[in-house]
Amino acid sequence: MAVERRDFLGMAFGGFAAIGGAFSLVAMKKSWDPLPSVKAAGFLTVDLSPMKDGEFRTVTWRGKPVFILKKTAQMKKNEKRDVVVGNADYSVMIGLCTHLGCIPTWKPKKMMFHCACHGGEFDASGVNTFGPPPRPMDIPPFKIDGTKLVLGEVGPEYKKLVAQA
Ligand code: FES
Repeated sequence: MAVERRDFLGMAFGGFAAIGGAFSLVAMKKSWDPLPSVKAAGFLTVDLSPMKDGEFRTVTWRGKPVFILKKTAQMKKNEKRDVVVGNADYSVMIGLCTHLGCIPTWKPKKMMFHCACHGGEFDASGVNTFGPPPRPMDIPPFKIDGTKLVLGEVGPEYKKLVAQA
């Protein structure tokens, strides 16, 4: 009888331990999942409609500068990189030099980006044209939603650019 009772207690304790384990697994999973605020922080919506021709903006997305330039008729079109919204072309790129990561400066008169660190240059589409940068500035994943640019979401327009690159 005493043995049976111990068995029962053992089983009961085992059961509690299993349930406790399951609860702690759920608790652990919860703490591993990104918080809703972190998920939301992965996306940034920018309304492009107020931008004027030639206007340049820098926004911060996932801690990085992202350049947005509304191209003018004088700026060369680049089918492989231009983000087309309505009938306007935009250059959208992560504003970090592909040489060693400095932040290039937009020079509106010369219609180019200049990197002060080692003299690298990029055209208005973000393509490297001079100096040590080995490749164009990176285009972040984006989606077009009406006149809005949603950074961080992979839309069909982004997929098309990546496929052409
Ligand atoms: S970091 Fe830009 S040219 Fe070197």
